[in-house]
Amino acid sequence: MTRMQRVCILGGSGFVGRHIANRLHDRGIHSRIPTSYRERTKQILVVPGLELIQANVHEPDRLRELFDECDAVINLVGILNEKGFDGSGFRRAHVELTDKIIAACRESGIRRLLHMSALGADAENGPSYYQQTKGEAEQHVLAADDLDVTVFRPSVIFGPEDNFFNQFARLLKLSAGVFPLPTPKARFSPVYVGDVAEAFVTALQDSDTFGKSYDLCGPETYTLEELVRYTAETAGIRRVVWPCSDRLSRLQAKVLQRVPGKPYSMDNYLSATVDNVCAVNNLPQLGIEPTGMNAVVPGYLGKKTERQRYNQFRQMARR
Ligand SMILES: NC(=O)c1ccc[n+]([C@@H]2O[C@H](COP(=O)([O-])OP(=O)(O)OC[C@H]3O[C@@H](n4cnc5c(N)ncnc54)[C@H](OP(=O)(O)O)[C@@H]3O)[C@@H](O)[C@H]2O)c1
Repeated sequence: MTRMQRVCILGGSGFVGRHIANRLHDRGIHSRIPTSYRERTKQILVVPGLELIQANVHEPDRLRELFDECDAVINLVGILNEKGFDGSGFRRAHVELTDKIIAACRESGIRRLLHMSALGADAENGPSYYQQTKGEAEQHVLAADDLDVTVFRPSVIFGPEDNFFNQFARLLKLSAGVFPLPTPKARFSPVYVGDVAEAFVTALQDSDTFGKSYDLCGPETYTLEELVRYTAETAGIRRVVWPCSDRLSRLQAKVLQRVPGKPYSMDNYLSATVDNVCAVNNLPQLGIEPTGMNAVVPGYLGKKTERQRYNQFRQMARR
């Protein structure tokens, strides 16, 4: 395989994309990242040589322009909530966009496609729209056997600026004494964003990964209740974590999905009714030793100055 020079990362302006772009840069590979919010994104996405382009990736012509002179495409686009309630928002972001990406790869002569899915993605049996549409997108990319596709299926991802521990820390702070926690028994194996990014970058030019799916997990499994208690303890927030019954979890979802910004939805609830753990963790197959939470999370949840947090984030983004 000839050495790659430029990769287009769709959804690359987000949490995971930033880590991948930094690692690609370290290996001498340029990233091209389309975003809907270039002005905002350029403040937080600082990678030398990065091409940050304002674009609507749902327009097929725009996609083909974005793929021009690229050697590979990485698709990280994903949403946890849609505007409406009928699954069409999930379908558009996960399935329809994936189909457009496959078509644009073919038209642009790009064979290599790395696709981000999620653990629990299941077109037929996934209980939520999120899992069903992620599962369908996986099927579509793996069926494109004229392309060299690799699929990644991580459990919940942690790291500075994650939307998991940081979000729980914010919600715990906002709660008045008692924190009612829905789906407390849901199980997760949180995986470090640096390990996920390394998996993508390692696989990029490795033909042994073509046509394969990789489940990515951390070294430990916890219930959601354990993870939220860990968050409170690590961030020094004294709250009573109160595990909700299943009935109350559903009620919370039904109410909160009507609140602006949808902080929690029935779809999120349904996703958490199946465990988010690996039967076999495929990180070691890629030569990556899974990083435990304790090595990383106290560094960004613990009490630190803004400057210390920033320096740590920069250091980790490069690791
Ligand atoms: N974070 C996790 O714990 C986790 C776990 C399992 C799987 N995943 C998957 O990993 C991927 C990346 O996750 P992340 O945490 O990095 O996500 P993120 O921070 O939310 O970033 C996703 C990016 O996708 C773009 N995007 C969002 N909605 C879009 C839409 N409707 N159409 C086109 N682009 C859209 C956004 O770019 P602009 O706003 O710049 O346009 C955003 O920066 C997602 O596919 C997610 O499902 C994440």
